[in-house]
Amino acid sequence: MRGEEVRDIVEDSSRADLFGPTQAAGGRMPRMPTPFEIAEVLGKRVIGQRDAIEEMSVALAKKLEGVRTGHILMIGSSGTGKTTLMRGVEEYLASDPKLASRSTVVRLHANVLGEEAERGRPGEAVLHRLLERSREQLGADASWDAVLDRARRGLVFVDEVDKIRSRVGDRPNVAGIRAQEALLTLIENEAIPLRRPDWAGGGVQTVDSSGLLFVCAGAFEGLYDAVFDRVTVGRDKGALQAVTVVEGGQVREELQFSLQEWLRNEDLFEYGMSPQFLSRFDAVVLLEDLTVEELVRIFLESPDSGLQQSKEYFATYGKELVLSPAAVRAIATEATRQPRLGARALKEVFRRVIRRWELDPAQSVPGAALVLDTEQIEQALTH
Ligand SMILES: Nc1ncnc2c1ncn2[C@@H]1O[C@H](COP(=O)(O)OP(=O)(O)O)[C@@H](O)[C@H]1O
Ligand SMILES: [Mg+2]
Repeated sequence: MRGEEVRDIVEDSSRADLFGPTQAAGGRMPRMPTPFEIAEVLGKRVIGQRDAIEEMSVALAKKLEGVRTGHILMIGSSGTGKTTLMRGVEEYLASDPKLASRSTVVRLHANVLGEEAERGRPGEAVLHRLLERSREQLGADASWDAVLDRARRGLVFVDEVDKIRSRVGDRPNVAGIRAQEALLTLIENEAIPLRRPDWAGGGVQTVDSSGLLFVCAGAFEGLYDAVFDRVTVGRDKGALQAVTVVEGGQVREELQFSLQEWLRNEDLFEYGMSPQFLSRFDAVVLLEDLTVEELVRIFLESPDSGLQQSKEYFATYGKELVLSPAAVRAIATEATRQPRLGARALKEVFRRVIRRWELDPAQSVPGAALVLDTEQIEQALTH
């Protein structure tokens, strides 16, 4: 038996200890969910966004199986579900002890990385958070080795990653550059110096972080316009050809642009993400702008929708809040008029509608139910 093989077996059996009995160790491993099963759960929380859900689910399934998987970059306008997807994954993992015992998750704002990189060693802040989480999960009696081993195989969500662009306009953004460097140090690095926390006796040791999975997300505001300009009037002028559309007997020329189709790595470089940083991501997934139908579903189904809150509030007065399907659609349609807010516009629109009744439910709702139809919605939105 060659040395390499021996090492492989040793590594496998150490994994078996950490993960409980495995087939190899003669026991039965609890079956891990398939990507399909994970996607089904996440799809209840995140409406639409199939590409992002599928990519995330496959990565997570691999992670839970202890298989290596590539890092993911999610790009999507504000309010399209990026943070919701990350939270969905956190909740999913926390909901089942079998899954929770195989994953330590942290979610942080990219901005924090820049601030912390200015103070400490790059990347250390992320590791410290992972260590904290992993110790919370394992208990204060767990050994340093156990805590560290779990932490360095964690899942790291970096939200608002577009905020760490290396320049804003023509000016360099030093905090952003530092933060990207900090992340770079962490992604796929086998020897990161880490200061051990006091409870672990202090001192510095090197840590292998190549088992971490990074999922970064950002709105990249302005990217859509920049790419559109590149293929219409900019460097690649003429690349996007107008197509002839026949509609109602009328013939016209139309530019059909989709970011998905035209986005290139160079667009992200120009946006201010360094080539080294980008090259760490195997998958770049785009979240779509939400359709009226999807907004309707979010409004009705989302646990943090303004509708649910309001229903609860009226219930405290013993009154039921009911919206007709047409009323819901009117609210969703109004929300699409503020595309920059995505699904967040639903809340804003609904506040404008419902405020007058919420002010004094005992007076404003004489019966047992407040029933809103399009008429009330239109009236509320135009006054
Ligand atoms: N695809 C979606 N599915 C379900 N809810 C969504 C979706 N997109 C946005 N929302 C809702 O809109 C709000 C903002 O969504 P969030 O995920 O924070 O957006 P962002 O993409 O800016 O991170 C949340 O209240 C969330 O419930
Ligand atoms: Mg967000």
